[in-house]
Amino acid sequence: MTEGNGAARPTAFSGYYHRPPAMSDTRLMEVGPGTAAGEYLRRFWHPFLLSSELKDLPVSVRLLGEDLVVFRDRSGRLGLLHKHCIHRGASLEFGIPAERGIRCCYHGWLFDVDGTVLETPAEPPQSNLRHGICQGAYPVREAFGMLFAYLGPPELMPELPVYDTFAHPAGTRLVPFRLFYPCNWLQIVENAADPIHNAYLHAIVSGQQFSPAFAVLPALDFVKTPLGFLSMATRRVKDHVFIRASDMIMPNIGQFASGANNATAEGFSISCYLTRWVVPLDDHNAFYMGVVHLNDYTQQQRGVREDAFGVGKVGLIGQTQDRPYEERQREPGDYDACVSQGVIQNRRNEHLGTTDRGVVLFRRLLGQSIVAVEKGDPLSLPKLYAENPVRTYCHELVFRLPSQSNIGDIKSLGAFGRRAAEMVVETDHLPPQERETVAAERIRRLLSAELVG
Ligand code: FES
Ligand SMILES: [Fe+2]
Repeated sequence: MTEGNGAARPTAFSGYYHRPPAMSDTRLMEVGPGTAAGEYLRRFWHPFLLSSELKDLPVSVRLLGEDLVVFRDRSGRLGLLHKHCIHRGASLEFGIPAERGIRCCYHGWLFDVDGTVLETPAEPPQSNLRHGICQGAYPVREAFGMLFAYLGPPELMPELPVYDTFAHPAGTRLVPFRLFYPCNWLQIVENAADPIHNAYLHAIVSGQQFSPAFAVLPALDFVKTPLGFLSMATRRVKDHVFIRASDMIMPNIGQFASGANNATAEGFSISCYLTRWVVPLDDHNAFYMGVVHLNDYTQQQRGVREDAFGVGKVGLIGQTQDRPYEERQREPGDYDACVSQGVIQNRRNEHLGTTDRGVVLFRRLLGQSIVAVEKGDPLSLPKLYAENPVRTYCHELVFRLPSQSNIGDIKSLGAFGRRAAEMVVETDHLPPQERETVAAERIRRLLSAELVG
């Protein structure tokens, strides 16, 4: 059953010869302390809890393979400490928040939010024990209705990024949400680098989860941006051209349009419906969390209610385990696709095609960034983040095609989409409103030039 080179022939009923090979190298997926990807991920701020989830009691959290406890002390300051007390290991989730810091329940040691040991009350008054030791602590920030942590070297801590989409278009309100995915973080990120799945999973195979326009097969492209790349699909939907270009922001951030645009009316927006982080809890579990952007543009496409978002809900079918198993089988969604790939998908068992170019690109960028951190090369991304608000590139366009337009086949659609995306990138120095106007004019000119050409 084997060919000259030892490979099994692809014949019918040949499962015996095609059993999955051993697990792939997990270097890109591992997130714990001291791992290659884990060290890279530790150069960024990650959200890990909604502000509304932290009340008067401490909360136990797992983040990048570390067990931690977050709390608010009685004076309102946030602390994020290693979970186990450095005295004899009791969990600080049973600690009592004090006016300053948190007191371990077991023997009363008091820790400040930065990990300083303030009191060791059972020790003699002259004891110096507390001066030479410290409870592990990390900086934590509260923003956009979420709590963010930075688990990297303190001397390399970047500013917490604020994205231009958070205040554009005017009147945007951010509503936070958090979902739990019991699988490795990378396969959730790869879902966003794979825009062809929107046609199949969200329109053709599972039934209509996105608008009917998504059932039209698109030209795919992956256009580099200063933050990563745009994962984009360009379609011809009747007499309109329809671009959906999602931000892939290294290492784990995505920005997306709603998926509800039916491409029947003209529109152009450099903004997003959703900003999400894929936050690794450990190698086998992740949060899909972030904010939905409520404004006139997003509301007109997908009239959403604010209470559709929060812990375990994001206002779209198939994003959680929270449906009967049979219903998930009949109409699977992103959760079912990603989690069913396995706790850690075995990449050695995959057969990539031309539509997987975005997945390959993401893995390449991730690999390069990991090596840069390993070598101690200065990392470019935190530098970009230092300028707030950070310019982003997610956009959505529906333009009516001129009557004799020759845009229509996959090749011409792809070329148009790429050029339009480049114009969105080229205008990133402009304020958001002006940028949208200027980019729209240029893209319209491109459409007419194409007609002449
Ligand atoms: S274990 Fe925390 S004070 Fe003893
Ligand atoms: Fe999806």
